[in-house]
Amino acid sequence: MGVWIWVLVFGFVWGIGAHGLDRHPHTERISGSAGDVLEDDPVGRLKVFVYELPSKYNKKILQKDPRCLNHMFAAEIFMHRFLLSSPVRTLNPEEADWFYTPIYTTCDLTPNGLPLPFKSPRMMRSAIQLISSNWPYWNRTEGADHFFVVPHDFGACFHYQEEKAIERGILPLLQRATLVQTFGQRNHVCLNEGSITIPPYAPPQKMQAHLIPQETPRSIFVYFRGLFYDVNNDPEGGYYARGARAAVWENFKDNPLFDISTEHPTTYYEDMQRAIFCLCPLGWAPWSPRLVEAVIFGCIPVIIADDIVLPFADAIPWEEIGVFVAEEDVPNLDTILTSIPPEVILRKQRLLANPSMKQAMLFPQPAQSGDAFHQILNGLARKLPHNKNVYLKPGENALNWTAGPVGDLKPW
Ligand SMILES: *[C@@H]1O[C@H](CO)[C@@H](O)[C@H](O)[C@H]1NC(C)=O
Ligand SMILES: *[C@@H]1O[C@H](CO)[C@@H](O)[C@H](O)[C@H]1NC(C)=O
Repeated sequence: MGVWIWVLVFGFVWGIGAHGLDRHPHTERISGSAGDVLEDDPVGRLKVFVYELPSKYNKKILQKDPRCLNHMFAAEIFMHRFLLSSPVRTLNPEEADWFYTPIYTTCDLTPNGLPLPFKSPRMMRSAIQLISSNWPYWNRTEGADHFFVVPHDFGACFHYQEEKAIERGILPLLQRATLVQTFGQRNHVCLNEGSITIPPYAPPQKMQAHLIPQETPRSIFVYFRGLFYDVNNDPEGGYYARGARAAVWENFKDNPLFDISTEHPTTYYEDMQRAIFCLCPLGWAPWSPRLVEAVIFGCIPVIIADDIVLPFADAIPWEEIGVFVAEEDVPNLDTILTSIPPEVILRKQRLLANPSMKQAMLFPQPAQSGDAFHQILNGLARKLPHNKNVYLKPGENALNWTAGPVGDLKPW
């Protein structure tokens, strides 16, 4: 009772004091942890030039497989569409702060809908060759004022198996560019310093259609649906999710506080809205759409992925809204979660209820202020002005065009 009164009074007073009549007096403005920057407007803070590429690099690929619009890597397509009509776009490359190359490298799907990145390096090389010979801007910096959206599992390492991805490393030609990617893990060869980590694409309308009344009680303590083992790709067990998902299952399958299963029910989205905690363990990669779903559905994300770099981590106070559990502590998950004080849970839920937090996780059509598109632009704007030393002297080279696996050098 005391907690509730404190919350109401504090929230109310804060709302008035900070900026007169708050538009959302029932929610809390996110202060600290740079949360306020979520509401920044990128317009006027940067200008982006969109290269015009032959449609075989983008539109034709999508025509061949429209499923690319709905899978979790669709950000590469929607970002292109967004930029074409964005007020930050400039048609004059001379005044551009950033250069964007519209190329859909993850839209090559198996019959089952899994994206194969095997052609991506050649395709990317081909596009860079084209822009560097047709415009003078690439050669000026060899990519340091260019950004690329690379939403595949391990970003520009272009492989879905971590070992292979690490072996490949970031495509040599992209070493100086800013990579906008879903993959994020500290001290990992597939994440360059200065990259922008974004949420994976999750369909906004579909999630919207499953919203239930906000006052619905959260009667599930811990919720998770997904694989615990990947028997096909990891028959021995232990390698998939570095064993963390297996540990969840083995320790808690019979625990009544844990509603966990591999069965994906039709009420999946509704169930997340009835849960207090939603597990977001790593799979093959540290990230998954569950992160986005948890935020949208106000379920406190329990992040089990050591060293993960979360989407827009410089703008979203993940430490405050989520719970972080080390992979090795999974066997203590029940104790860890049951010992979080109710007022801490309430505070996390209130932060999650903040519309700006949800907005930042989504790529809506059409775009809306504060959404993930705008957060990407904000991230790019915060990196300006470019350091003077990114501009190469005439004749100076920083990249090696023949580095990397020989197979990547074949024309696309
Ligand atoms: C940029 O450099 C490449 C290789 O160094 C060269 O082939 C190309 O013509 C240059 N582009 C322009 C527009 O001068
Ligand atoms: C570029 O990479 C190739 C292949 O790894 C290597 O043989 C060559 O020496 C490199 N060139 C320079 C200038 O470092």
